[in-house]
Parts: sequence; structure tokens; C-alpha cells
Amino acid sequence: MNINTLTVIDNRTDATYTLPIENGAIRTMDLRQMKTSPDDFGLMGYDPAFMNTASCKSAITFIDGDKGILRYRGYPIEELAEHCSFLEVAYLLLHGELPNKTENEEWTRQITYHTMLHESIKKFMDGFAYDAHPMGILVATVGALSTFYPDARNIHDEASRRTQIYRLVAKMPTLAAFAYRHSRGLPYAYPDNDLTYTQNFLNMLFKMTEVKYRPEPALARALDVLFILHADHEQNASANVMRAVGSAHTDPYLSTAGAAAALAGPLHGGANEAVLRMLDQIGKKENIPDYIKGVKEGKYKLMGFGHRVYKNYDPRAQIIKNTAEQVFQVTGRNPKLDMALELEKIALNDDYFVKRKLYPNVDFYSGIIYQAMGFNPQMFTVLFAIPRTAGWLAQWQEMLQDGEQKISRPRQIYVGYGMRQVEQPEPGTKAKAA
Ligand code: ACO
Repeated sequence: MNINTLTVIDNRTDATYTLPIENGAIRTMDLRQMKTSPDDFGLMGYDPAFMNTASCKSAITFIDGDKGILRYRGYPIEELAEHCSFLEVAYLLLHGELPNKTENEEWTRQITYHTMLHESIKKFMDGFAYDAHPMGILVATVGALSTFYPDARNIHDEASRRTQIYRLVAKMPTLAAFAYRHSRGLPYAYPDNDLTYTQNFLNMLFKMTEVKYRPEPALARALDVLFILHADHEQNASANVMRAVGSAHTDPYLSTAGAAAALAGPLHGGANEAVLRMLDQIGKKENIPDYIKGVKEGKYKLMGFGHRVYKNYDPRAQIIKNTAEQVFQVTGRNPKLDMALELEKIALNDDYFVKRKLYPNVDFYSGIIYQAMGFNPQMFTVLFAIPRTAGWLAQWQEMLQDGEQKISRPRQIYVGYGMRQVEQPEPGTKAKAA
């Protein structure tokens, strides 16, 4: 007998089935042959929130949540964060290999060349209220790019896809910076092509009256590291949306808008903002035990803790902790770090968190660094969306090139009413449900 199989006995019919096991998985479509009668639809899998369902095969990102391992295209995240720039990592995610010198120059040239926005985008920006959340602005304006680039609908044309990838990776920082400047009532600062990706981003955010903005190298490097850590994370909620929207052959600007909308939620990328709000709410170290008590009583969650996949530690959180120290040498120490460290210490020694394997995730410390760099909490998720765009695009491209993929369309288990009829109305009255 082939040992890479699963034998199933359907007790409803006594029938025996042998299902192949490939890559540690069965195909749920193989269940459909299990029927109680010829007109039975066949057995389905039921898996709300995809707790145990692989929706694709992917060669981009590997995570071992129990061991705390994260690799992009085989490279450990720790090595990429130490030796590479964000743009090199974005290239790696999208092309499968790190760029050589010539490839890197051409890739950087293309990204630098595409950073400008159509002037009309500024009119969209101006339409938002001064206190509009920048994530809402980002979602709306990245979606609006679809209207400027109708060629993006040629999703099966490789050259067109490449152009849209250049544009999206290049323009996300410009959109994000414009959203930030709008919220501050500042004039938009245009890209400076002499600067690196993250230096230029800092320029568009913080340039005031100086002729040439000179970014602090340590901060630009810290941002590079943070961008690398956030660039991809396999089939998370936003990547799943990117693939689902893209599977309808929607163009990549609209698909990215969908993915960014998923990222905005506090259970996903919005958690970094929620962590800062939580630390503000706790106020001082002495209040931590009371706060933890409230978490254990189920009144609220400890934001920045827990992860669907990591049940040991999130390797990104460790790298971020080290980066924080480098940033604080330039900016001065953010006092919230001490509170976060204390919160972590108490939580990691508490049975509630230990039993549930709840550890700090990437968002627990990132906001503290971002705040020290001068960002307000509303910008934190925007800072996540910029690098994640490279990951979304890699996932999108892989999905389009995967011959097994079709429009993403889950099944449901219908639990509503059986067939019923609308009562005939009395003359002069409205129809109502039976
Ligand atoms: N604080 C307190 N308790 C928690 C937390 C938390 N942060 N996270 C999970 N738990 C508890 C749950 O209440 C549950 O307890 P129970 O078994 O007594 O019911 C148990 O731990 C298991 O949690 P689930 O909700 O089943 O875990 P799931 O995998 O569905 O959720 C998630 C993962 C959404 C990240 C969750 O841990 C959470 O809400 N964390 C806070 C928000 C956050 O930091 N999100 C960022 C994630 S990283 C990212 O997306 C970039």
C-alpha cells in the first residue's frame, strides 16, 4: 500500500476511500466523491477562518511558528535584516533571488524613476478632512491609481505586470508621505531621486524649508530594517485578500487597496497603533498588574501579543527590540519602551499567557520606534503597508502564474430558512415575510 495515502471509511455508507497525501495535505476536493446517494453534493471540509486549510502552494515565505523561524525565499529574516536593503529584499520576494549588482542598479533605477504621482492625486488628498485617518487615505488613493493606469488590466502580460510592480513599490511611500503631510497641513514634498528608498521617504515626510533634506543615516537604516521585517508574511489576512481580489483578475491597484484595507484592522496591521493607545491607557508601570487582570478577565486583549502562526516567539519582535536601541541613540529613549518591557516580563511569567502561548508579535515594539522617530500612531499601519506591498505583489504574481488557481470562491454551509413564501398582502397593505 502507498503509505502517502489516507484511508477513510464513510460510516454513513460503509464505503472506503483512499486519498493521496501530498506535502502533508489531502485535497479537500477528494472528499467530494464521498456521497450518500448519487444526487448528494458530496462531503465538504468546514474550516471557518482557514485554521487548517492551505489555499495555495507558495515558494515565497516560510514560517515555522513553533520554532520561531521566518525565511524569505529560503533566507533567514535575521540575515536579510543584517545584510540587505529593503529594495534588495523586495526584489528577492518578487523575483525569487537576491539581485546581482547590475540587476540591483536597474531595479533601483526603475523604482526611483516611478516615485512621482500624477498631480491629480493631490486633489484627492485635499478632499479628505484634516483629521482623516491616513490608512483610509492610503486605501482610497492606491485604489484610485487604477484609474490612471488602465494598462494595469493586462494582468496576463508580463511586461505590464512588471511596470505596475515598479509603480506600486515606488509610489506607496509617496502616497503615504502625502497622506501624512495632508494630516499635518503641510505642503507636499516631492521625491528626491538622489536618496535611497527609505531616505527619500523620510525626505517626503519631514522636509521643511531646507533646500536639500539630509536624512539621519541611522534612522533611514532602521526604517530599512523595519521595512524588511514587514515585507511579507505568507498567507495572512491581507495577503489572502490580495490573492482573492486578484483571482477575479482585478488590476493590482484595486487588489492592493483591498489588501491594505484588511491590514488596517486592529487584529492585523492596525495592532501597532492599538499597542500605543494601550500603553497610553495604562499610563504608568504601576498600573500594569491591573491591566493584566482585566485582560485575563476577558475585558480586553493585550495588543501586540499573540499570533495565529507563532506559538513560540515572533523572530521579528527580537530584531525590532535591537533596532529600537539603535534608534534611541539618535532620538533619545522613548519612555514607553520601559513600560512595554515590563508588560512583556509580567505577561511572559503569567500562566494565562504561557498556557496560551502568547508572545509579543512584530507590532508590540514597532510603534514605540516609530513614535520615537516622530510618527504619530495613526501613521503606524501606513508604515506597515509600504513594505508589505512588495509581499502582496509577490503573492499576487505567484497566484496568477499558478495553473491550479481559479477565482477564489469558498463554499458555505447554509443554515438559513428552507424555502418559504411571501404572504399575499391584504389589499392596501404591504407584503410581509411569512
Ligand atoms: N490578549 C489576551 N488574550 C489573547 C490574545 C491577546 N492578545 N490573543 C489571543 N488570546 C487568547 C484568546 O482569548 C484565546 O483564549 P481562550 O482559549 O481562553 O478562548 C486564546 O488566546 C487563543 O486565541 P485566538 O483568538 O484563538 O487566536 P487567533 O490565532 O485566532 O488570533 C490574533 C490571533 C488575532 C493575532 C490574536 O492573538 C490577537 O487578537 N492579538 C492581539 C492583536 C494583535 O496583536 N494583532 C497583530 C498580529 S501580528 C500581525 O497581524 C501583523
